Amino acid sequence: MGGYNNLLKLSRYIKKCKFNFFAGIAGMIICSIMYTPVPYLMGYVIDKVLIPHKSYIELYKIIAVLILLHVLRYVISIFSKSIFIKVQNSVVNEVRVSMMDKIIDLPMSFLGKKEKGYILSRISECGNIGSLFSPMFINTFLSIFDFIFALIMMITLSYKLTIIVIIIVPVYFFTVRHSSNQLSESTKLMLETGAVLSGETYEVLNGIEEIKILNGKKIQLRKFKNKLNQMVKSSIKQSKQILFFMENILLVNNLAAILILLFSGIFILNNQLTIGIYTAFIAYMNKIFATTSSFASLGMTVKPVCVSIERTQEFLEMNDENTEKCEIINENIDSISIENLSFKYEENGENIIDKLNFKMNKGDKVLIKGENGTGKSTLIKNILGLYSPTEGEIFINDKKYSLIDKRSIRSKIGVVSQNVFLFRGSILDNILYGQTNKSKEDVVSLIKKYNLEKYIQGFENGLETEINQNGIGISGGQTQIIAFLRATIAKKDVIILDEGTSNMDTETRKIILKILSERDICNILMIISHQEDGIEFVNKTLCLKKTNDN
Ligand SMILES: Nc1ncnc2c1ncn2[C@@H]1O[C@H](COP(=O)(O)OP(=O)(O)OP(=O)(O)O)[C@@H](O)[C@H]1O
Ligand SMILES: [Mg+2]
Repeated sequence: MGGYNNLLKLSRYIKKCKFNFFAGIAGMIICSIMYTPVPYLMGYVIDKVLIPHKSYIELYKIIAVLILLHVLRYVISIFSKSIFIKVQNSVVNEVRVSMMDKIIDLPMSFLGKKEKGYILSRISECGNIGSLFSPMFINTFLSIFDFIFALIMMITLSYKLTIIVIIIVPVYFFTVRHSSNQLSESTKLMLETGAVLSGETYEVLNGIEEIKILNGKKIQLRKFKNKLNQMVKSSIKQSKQILFFMENILLVNNLAAILILLFSGIFILNNQLTIGIYTAFIAYMNKIFATTSSFASLGMTVKPVCVSIERTQEFLEMNDENTEKCEIINENIDSISIENLSFKYEENGENIIDKLNFKMNKGDKVLIKGENGTGKSTLIKNILGLYSPTEGEIFINDKKYSLIDKRSIRSKIGVVSQNVFLFRGSILDNILYGQTNKSKEDVVSLIKKYNLEKYIQGFENGLETEINQNGIGISGGQTQIIAFLRATIAKKDVIILDEGTSNMDTETRKIILKILSERDICNILMIISHQEDGIEFVNKTLCLKKTNDN
């Protein structure tokens, strides 16, 4: 989990901004090159200007060159880092969009099992990937060039001291590798417990009304504290590991500096080294150590990012509901044939629907009835392709459902589901949701045709009335009217009402049922209802029973 090979998976996102990416890298390499002569010039000033007491002019010249190098480096560094800020945002946005694109197409059998909060935290984890492209991180990564240039200069100045430094460097890596493996494990655990905690928080927000009504605060707080404790534990473990990681590096660094001072001192006393060269050497050596320790901490940044990339990829590489569905329904839906259909939600659970056979043809108006929990909504979810039959098959115009791209079927079905979801936006936005070629005028004329004007006029701003998230502020009956308009605004081959009039008052229900009975609004109509009065116009009835009653 979280191997470095995951970094390669980002290449497709970098491709889209590759010019900026490579321009930024080039700028940073130039910065490294510009820094390279700085310590050498400082050593030169000490040995050739200050100690022999040469002229002021000589000193001013070198100082001017040093200032120039630093200013140039500053300008190029700002420029290239700004480019990376753009790259960083572009990559994160690309990943987020791909995630959302995928999540919407994932099968309900997966989405239904995962807590929404868990999935949300996976999306927000995409932000971690961005840290890989932060100027600070890229700087660390490119400090490998500082390392190479500094090493060359050190060998030129004193190969004996360089050998000592080269012996010390692997000790860093040994220290780092050991800690970084442990760190990545604890980071994984922390992310996992963090996701579980957001799941818990999401549940509280989702069920806040029930929590209040049922006085569930105590239970909810207990569950929350439980999950929080797990997260705090893993967070403390991770922080401790970071602490050890940093301190170990510092210790090796300090001991190395003392060792170099010891040998340099001996060489200087033996006239084998000058003070100027020692000063320059120490500056290069610090660069080497800084790079080594940067690379040490690189693991801390890269490992969690690799874990995030791997998790993100897990989502992106999952089969979605349309994978390998090569057939498209272009023609109208004239028949739906359910053959030997069995369905269960859980692999080890009981069948909710057991060997069901039923055929619906053009012109059929079907009542689906049955006690609570007999699988009526589940059957509709199978017909909508939200879930796939465990056994058996549904045929649409004699084509196997399992081979058809679900989008092409859904575009021909209008649904008022049992739990209507209204999106944030106006009532009009909600009615036109998913429509590309319908306008406000179409909605207004549909409302007129259906004689539903008074319901829409009842809203403060008519069709422009804003709906909060989850339709808070809109009554159950009003929600169903909006959903009914949404389901019928475009011509559909199949209309399904899953308890679609259950919250309406008698008069409104009558109006809707009249529309359904008298108007030719679709080829196949399916009505699920516990109330049969007013639905006598149906020509077929499907009665579902509890599977264990059979
Ligand atoms: N997502 C799900 N995961 C697991 N089990 C589920 C899921 N949805 C429904 N069930 C179970 O499947 C059974 C059938 O549910 P379904 O909603 O289809 O019943 P229904 O006939 O529509 O009932 P109602 O008349 O109350 O609307 C129930 O026992 C329910 O608990
Ligand atoms: Mg139902």
